[in-house]
Amino acid sequence: MTKTALITGISGQDGAYLARLLVDKGYKVYGALRRGAGLNTGRLEELGVLDEIELLSFELLEYTNIARALDQAKPDEIYNLAAQSFVGTSFDQPIYTSEVDGLGVTRMLEVLRTAGGTTRFYQASTSEMFGKVHEVPQRETTPFYPRSPYAVAKLYAHWMVVNYRESYGMYAASGLLFNHESPLRGTEFVTRKVTLALARIALGEQERLSVGNVDAERDWGFAGDYVDGMWRMLQQTAADDYVLATGRTTKVRDFISASAKALDMDLEWTGEGSQAKAIDRKSGKVIVDVDPQFFRPAEVDLLLGDASKAKSVLGWKPRVDLDELTNMMVKADYDRVKNRTLRF
Ligand code: NAP
Ligand code: GDD
Repeated sequence: MTKTALITGISGQDGAYLARLLVDKGYKVYGALRRGAGLNTGRLEELGVLDEIELLSFELLEYTNIARALDQAKPDEIYNLAAQSFVGTSFDQPIYTSEVDGLGVTRMLEVLRTAGGTTRFYQASTSEMFGKVHEVPQRETTPFYPRSPYAVAKLYAHWMVVNYRESYGMYAASGLLFNHESPLRGTEFVTRKVTLALARIALGEQERLSVGNVDAERDWGFAGDYVDGMWRMLQQTAADDYVLATGRTTKVRDFISASAKALDMDLEWTGEGSQAKAIDRKSGKVIVDVDPQFFRPAEVDLLLGDASKAKSVLGWKPRVDLDELTNMMVKADYDRVKNRTLRF
C-alpha cells in the first residue's frame, strides 16, 4: 500500500533531499510550504521533484495551518523539518526562534495527539543541543548544554517529543543530527558561504571572503545521507532518539583550505582569532580574513558525533566523506557562477 508523508520545511535543504528520497521509495509526498512574496521551490526543482509532490500552504506559527495540513494529507509519517535554522539569527531573534523551533513543535504534537491515529512523527533535533560539550565524541546519552537561543528552543522541542512519546505512547522520534551540507545548503551557513565565495574569487567576481571563528570544529556530513537516516528512524518497531554523524571533525579554516585547493588555490594561514588571514600563495593576495561581525555571543567550539547506535539499530552509515562533499559543493558553485545559474 502506498504510504503518505508530510514534510514541513519542504523548501529547505533537507526538505528537498527527503522529498526526493521518499518519492523514489514510492511515497505520496505532501510538502508544507511557507508562502512569502514568491514560492521558494528552487531546491525542489534542482532535484527534479517539484512536479512529483503536492504542496500545502503552511506556517508553523498558525495552529490552524497544522490542523489543516494534517487533515489534507492524512499522513502515515510526518517529518518536521521546518525551523528558523540559522544559529546566528537566533541571537537577534530569540523570541521568534523560540516560537517556531520550540513551541511550534508542541503545537504539532498537540494537533497530532488530539487527532488520535497512528501517524509517526520525526523531529529535526540537533547536535547544537550538546553545545559546550560534556564529552567527546557526543552520543545519545551525552548531557546537553545549549549555547544559543536556537539550541535552547530545539532542546525544549526535543524534550517535548520525548514527553509525548512517554506520556501518550505516540511514535515520536528525535534525530540528533550533526551538521550536514550539500550544494543545496543555504548561503548563510559557513560551508556554502565558503564554496560560493571561493568560486566567485576563482572566477574574478569577488576579491575576498570574510568569516568569523575559523577555529570552530564541526562534524560535517552530506545531507543526502542524513535524510535516509531520518526515514529509517520512522521504520522501527518503537520510536527512539538517534545521533547521525560522520565521526570526523574539521576546523572551519581547514574546510576553507580544502575548498580553495579544489579550485587550484593554495592557502597559507597567518595570525590567530580576529587577526587570522589566508593568503593565496600563487597570487600573493589575502583572500580570506576575519570580520568580528560573524562571531557569535556564545560559540559551540567542537562537535564530533558517535553514530554507533544508528549504525547498529538502523543499519545507517554515511556514504559521502568530507573530501567528496567539499568537491561536490565547490564544483556546483563554480558551475553556477560561471554559467550564471545561481538561484539560491
Ligand atoms: P533550512 O534549509 O534552513 O530549511 C528550513 C525550512 O523551514 C525552510 O523550508 C523554511 O521555509 C522552513 N520554515 C522556517 N520557518 C518556518 C515557519 N515559521 N513555518 C513554516 N516553515 C518554516 O534547514 P535544513 O538545513 O534543511 O534543516 C532542516 C531541519 O533540520 C531544521 O529544523 C534544522 O534546524 C534541523 N537541523 C539541520 C541540520 C543541518 O546541518 N542542516 C542539523 C541538525 C538539525 P522558508 O523557505 O520559507 O524559509
Ligand atoms: N555561518 C557562519 N558564517 N559560520 C561561521 C562563519 C561565517 O562566516 N565563520 C565561522 N563560522 C563558524 C560558526 O561560528 C560555527 O562555529 C561554524 O562555523 C558552523 O556555523 P554554521 O555553518 O552557521 O552552522 P552551525 O553549526 O552554527 O549550525 C548548523 O548546524 C547545526 C547542527 O549542529 C545549522 O544547520 C543548524 O540548524 C544545525 O542545527
